[in-house]
Amino acid sequence: MTRAETYFYEPAKGHGLPHDPFKAIVAPRPIGWIGSRDAEGRGNLAPYSFFNAMCDTPPVVAFSSAGRKDSLRNIQATGEFVANFANQRLAAAMNASSAPFAHGEDELAITGLTPAPGRAVSVPHVAEAAAALECRLLQVLELKDLDGRSTDHFVVFGQVVGVHIDPAFLNDGLFDTGAAGPIMRAGYLSDYAAVGREQIVKLKRPKSAEEGRDFVRRESASD
Ligand SMILES: Cc1cc2nc3c(=O)[nH]c(=O)nc-3n(C[C@H](O)[C@H](O)[C@H](O)COP(=O)(O)O)c2cc1C
Repeated sequence: MTRAETYFYEPAKGHGLPHDPFKAIVAPRPIGWIGSRDAEGRGNLAPYSFFNAMCDTPPVVAFSSAGRKDSLRNIQATGEFVANFANQRLAAAMNASSAPFAHGEDELAITGLTPAPGRAVSVPHVAEAAAALECRLLQVLELKDLDGRSTDHFVVFGQVVGVHIDPAFLNDGLFDTGAAGPIMRAGYLSDYAAVGREQIVKLKRPKSAEEGRDFVRRESASD
């Protein structure tokens, strides 16, 4: 297969396009809807799409904060946070909770959501969420660039110490991601991807090099 020469740019020299395509390329991204509490116990809730699972044994998630935002400062103060599952039903509340409310104002209450008490951590989670991961802070990594300069971005790693699942989304013991309907960041400023059951595809993973070659042979035979 041949294709036209790629559009190539070096980010440090500018992308030369109307908008930076970086976040449209690394997309869609799950949204960690991060709940935390400050040292005085005041709640906070905000979405972070530089968010993902980093490993599963033990389960670890991470999100990145552009500057020292309230979530980061709270988590550094208390060592705890919750990553709520943001879905299409909660998209408007998730989006509203990203507004720059003053420190100490609880977005969970402002958006009319219900706080559910924490079990393994003291931070409440969103009762309406299909799932929530209770986390303890592992480390905060200040991101530096190739010249060793701080980027003013901070990656927060948390080990998952408690998991809540709405039983409505447990089918035969499996969490039904498609039915839970995650809303994910995609493309440019107001673009999101909505994942439903139709978007879930199954792909068997090759267990050996031979099986990998077999998959290629079968694929080219079906062309
Ligand atoms: C869908 C979505 C994803 C976001 N992802 C991030 C992110 O990854 N990092 C970040 O610093 N801000 C992100 N923001 C912006 C924060 O949510 C916003 O700055 C918020 O006010 C931070 O709240 P806090 O200061 O209470 O932590 C995102 C906003 C939205 C709507």
